[in-house]
This record gives sequence, C-alpha cells and structure tokens, in this order.
Amino acid sequence: MAKQTVRDLDLKGKKVLVRVDFNVPQGKDGSISDDRRIRAALPTLQHILDQGGSLILISHLGRPSGDPEADKPFRMDRIGQRLAELIGRPVKKVDDTVGEAAKAACAALQPGEIVLLENVRFNKGEKVPKKDEATGSVDPKSAAKHEEFAKELASLGDAYVNDAFGTCHRDEASMVTLPRQYAPEQRAIGTLVEKEVQILATLLGHPERPMVAIMGGSKVSTKFELIENLLPNVDKLLIGGAMTYTFLLAQGRKTGNSLVEPDWVDKARDLLKRAASKIVLADDVLIANKMSEDAETRYISTSQDIPDGWEGFDIGPETVKHFSEIIKTAKTVVWNGPVGKFEIDAFSKGTRGIAKAMAESSAVTAIGGGETAEAVDKYGVAESMSHVSTGGGAFLESLEGKQFNSLKVIPDR
Ligand code: 3PG
Repeated sequence: MAKQTVRDLDLKGKKVLVRVDFNVPQGKDGSISDDRRIRAALPTLQHILDQGGSLILISHLGRPSGDPEADKPFRMDRIGQRLAELIGRPVKKVDDTVGEAAKAACAALQPGEIVLLENVRFNKGEKVPKKDEATGSVDPKSAAKHEEFAKELASLGDAYVNDAFGTCHRDEASMVTLPRQYAPEQRAIGTLVEKEVQILATLLGHPERPMVAIMGGSKVSTKFELIENLLPNVDKLLIGGAMTYTFLLAQGRKTGNSLVEPDWVDKARDLLKRAASKIVLADDVLIANKMSEDAETRYISTSQDIPDGWEGFDIGPETVKHFSEIIKTAKTVVWNGPVGKFEIDAFSKGTRGIAKAMAESSAVTAIGGGETAEAVDKYGVAESMSHVSTGGGAFLESLEGKQFNSLKVIPDR
C-alpha cells in the first residue's frame, strides 16, 4: 500500500520537521567525500519550500560516543555549509537539538527558511530505550528520556516528513517516536523514501523477468537471509566476493588461506542443492600470496583447489565474461556487494567488469549497499544505473523482507 507523501501535506506556512539521512562519508580532515545523500534529499526539501513551508532538518552523522571532544567530527556544520551551496539558500545551523538555541531558531523561522539541528545522536534520548535481555522489559528511565526527546522535537514544528531512507531500519526517536507525536494527516514520507520503497517493491514483487541478482561481500552469514528471500523472485543469483570460498568449501574444494565461514558450510551446501538451477558460482578466481597491491597473483579455475598460502581476492576473467552474458539477457538486475576486494587496484578487475556489464545493460538496474554504490561511482557508471540506493543496512534489510517501524507509523494514502 502506498504511503502518504509530502505532496499530500498542506505545507503553506508550516514548519516541517524533515528527518533526513545526511550521514555522509567524511575524509580524515572532516571534509565530505560523497554528498550523494544530501543531493538525494533536495527534491523533498525544495518541494516544501516551493509550497510555502519552512524546514527544520534533523539528521545523525556517524556514531557519536557522548564525549564532546571526540565527537567534534560528528557536528553538522560542514553538512549545513554543503546543503546551503546545493540548495542555494542560507542554512541556519544550530548547536543543539532541542535546547534554547534550537527553540529560538525554530520559533523565528519564516516560510522559505531552513534550520539544521545539531546531530540528533548527540542527545541520548534519540537512542532506542534499553531492554533487559533476560526479561525483555524496557528500562523506564531510558524510555522516559526517549519519549521526552521526541516530544521536545515535535514541539519545534507542525508536521513530519521522513526522507531518511538510509536510517529507516532504525527505531530511534526521530524515526519512530517523533512522528507518533503528530496527527496522522501531518506525517508523510519524502520523495526519496517513496522512490526507494517503490523500487524495492518492484524487486521483491513483480520485477520484469528474467531477474538477476548479483551478491558479493565477504560473509555468507550476513547475506543468507537476503539470498533466501530473493531466491523465489530471481531467475539467476550470481555469487561473487569472499562468500565464494565458503561455497567452494561446501563443494569439497580446498580454499587455501581464503576467508571462509566453516560454520556456514552445511547451509551453503544445502542452498546449492536447493537452488542448483539458479545459483551461479565463479568459474575462476584471482588468488594472491598476500593482501596487497604488490602481491604475486594468478588466476585459477574453481574446479581446482586453492594452494596453501594463497588467498582468493576477486573473480576471474572467465567469470566476468560468464556473469556479463547473464546480465545481458536480464530485464531486471539488482547488485549488492562488490565481487572482489576492489579497494586494492590489483583485485578490482572483477568489480569493474560487473559495473561495466551493468552500465551496458538495458535492464532496470538497481544498486544497493554503501560499497557497491562506491564502486559504481569509482568506475564512473553510477549515472547509467536506473537506481543507486542511498541505503546500506536499510537496503539490505528491505531485501531480506523486513518491515520497518519508521514506515509503519506513516499512514497509507
Ligand atoms: C547508514 O549509513 O547505514 C545509516 O545512516 C544508518 O547509520 P547507522 O548504521 O549508524 O545507524
């Protein structure tokens, strides 16, 4: 069922609290190394301003520890500056979340103006209330703090919009308890969340077939649920990344020093048996004697054992060719997880090859997960994709079939 969107709200003269995900990657000096998440929120922000509303923006940045000195890199100042450049209007960044400075700035807000609150995770009330693991009972003190914080945030504005797709899998105060403070007709999702949810619904519902999924990443354990949930919907599931070696172990190969999860071998074997017609493993892999740019490397067929002292780091050229042929026949392709350790150039050919095949495909192409988005950016093909998700964990959990509380609190249209 479609959710109420920002277009359904009466915005004229309203102060709209927009939960955005401006949790962007930063360099060592605190500079923003990728502002995609800020750019992705602009249509919603612009729409509210165009309709005569004003903006109170709420986001987290990183995972602050609570120590003000150590948490300096997580302050929102640079984000505010970048947003001002991108949106072409001043952004008043305040140094607290619900304190006097925030209240005063929000009280003075006029239509067309923008306030950016300090990192919402600087306030402990943002946290999900603690639970006693044995009894499951919620700690009343942290629950009260959480509730109180949500109420204080809500008092700053008139309506709530969730455009923070990357954070939708979190139950933090600004995602779930804050929208509950408003009447249903004052809660909505933004256009970014709308777009992300729509593409996921297509991938999990009625994708144009053939549908192909490419799964990379290092661990079978972290992708197992996702693979299980996707299998009924896909025609082919191509497996790359270090996950490959646990599957090879399950097929009785020796995997040398490669990363494997011995506890997952039985499950991997069972999966290979159940989905034999769908799962496609690498035909060849790149092995190296160490994990470094100057390593000695060679390609070997996956029908051979990996020698002791050698480790697999990428898919090989035969596999890139084979996977590319499958991608070419697809009408829908979803890719999550690089197929090799692409941050090291010597091990990047596989991921680059898959990115190229995706870019040349005429299928609907969806990219999810931080590293995969980084890879298509690095190889200059992000613009050729139908959709590059702003979600990491949120994208994965959606593909696993999870339903988010942050979206449940937004009414259907
Ligand atoms: C993300 O980058 O995945 C989101 O911003 C959520 O951040 P978190 O994992 O720190 O909750």
